[in-house]
Amino acid sequence: MKLKTLTPQAIKNKTVIMRVDYNTPLTHMANGVTKVADATRIDLSIPTIKYLRENNCKIILISHLGRPKNQPDPKLSLEPAARYLQKHHRFPVTFVPETIGQQAETAVAAMKPGGVLLLENVRFDEREKKNHASFAKELAKLADIYINDAFSSAHRSHASTTGIPDYLPAFAGLALQKEVDTLIDLTENPKKPLVVVLGGAKISDKVGAAEKLTALADIVLVGGAVANNFLKAEGLEIHKSFIEDASADLKKQNVNYVTIARELMEAHRTEKMLLNGYIPLPKIIYPIDVIAAPSLDTKKQSQVSIIDLTKDMADTPNDENLLYVDIGPKTVHLYSEIIRQAQTVFWNGPMGVWENPLFEHGSKIIGQEIGKVANSIIGGGDTISCVHHFNLEKHFTYISGAGGATLEFLGGKDLPGLQPLIQR
Ligand code: 3PG
Repeated sequence: MKLKTLTPQAIKNKTVIMRVDYNTPLTHMANGVTKVADATRIDLSIPTIKYLRENNCKIILISHLGRPKNQPDPKLSLEPAARYLQKHHRFPVTFVPETIGQQAETAVAAMKPGGVLLLENVRFDEREKKNHASFAKELAKLADIYINDAFSSAHRSHASTTGIPDYLPAFAGLALQKEVDTLIDLTENPKKPLVVVLGGAKISDKVGAAEKLTALADIVLVGGAVANNFLKAEGLEIHKSFIEDASADLKKQNVNYVTIARELMEAHRTEKMLLNGYIPLPKIIYPIDVIAAPSLDTKKQSQVSIIDLTKDMADTPNDENLLYVDIGPKTVHLYSEIIRQAQTVFWNGPMGVWENPLFEHGSKIIGQEIGKVANSIIGGGDTISCVHHFNLEKHFTYISGAGGATLEFLGGKDLPGLQPLIQR
């Protein structure tokens, strides 16, 4: 896939409308001020903004934030993102409290080369998600060219991702380009052994990627609530642990995520990886022990137990209210050994409920081990928050700002937001 990349000829002295993804977690403070809680996605857009400023462009940034109900919602304003840019990157950023209209047009007309405008949340207009041509046209008329630097929104076919390029020449931003290159490299040219680590709470968004990555990987390690599907598929007790309910479509076909996990294991049952060159391991590995507790916010260590899944379940605590909240110490040890053999690791989804210090061990240690691997690619909102929490972000080769888009791309889907950016 060759994307239309930025060249000085294409952008010099132009007014650019650039789709970024500033859909970041926010902190609403007691004094009424709202702050960006995790600026990873904003920081990802900085190289392209700098490049455009060096080329004398006027830059209009557009983004969504959250899922407003098709009308303005002050809690989901992009103003905190503008403040973050001003404070941390020292750009002369002007925030416009509307997306289109007189104020936006006046602000654009007053821009100087190198100037940066951030328009209000595109989802405050109901036409954004409907990819309505009138909205795309109104945005397009503000600029000479369109750049998309929001890979994490490329799985959405909205006015700001697929609509505007109908009216303007479209190019890929530097961050989007890097993301696509990294993911293509991972799927076409990974340095082996490739270990894939899948965790997190939900499995529904990972099924496609899990199928493709399992075929590609030397070994797949599952953790988090995703692992519960595999444990259950193998007939192991999971008590009250979380299992995601199948979508209506899957239910009609008599399929749920446990059956999907079983099929995936069956498809790869005979494939083995040699650990340390002589111990054959199955391709998909699920936890051999888990941390269990009666609730996710348990504060008492005395309520937390380790369940060894290799032992007769009759020996384990007979408490049907238990939830599996982290991988256990033997699993941490085994997964760490395997990760140490890898040349490449792709990680999406924490190993447990890391937000509770009693259940953080698995995600923390596995994160540390992945950070030592030569090529480590991580992605997904929860995984990023988790690595920030443990101050591990500097250890990875590449942190993808995207969750759903990365998984859909790795699952082999054509992302609509990439289509207008492809060289034909
Ligand atoms: C994301 O967080 O995955 C992107 O910003 C897309 O957000 P959405 O799922 O609300 O479209």
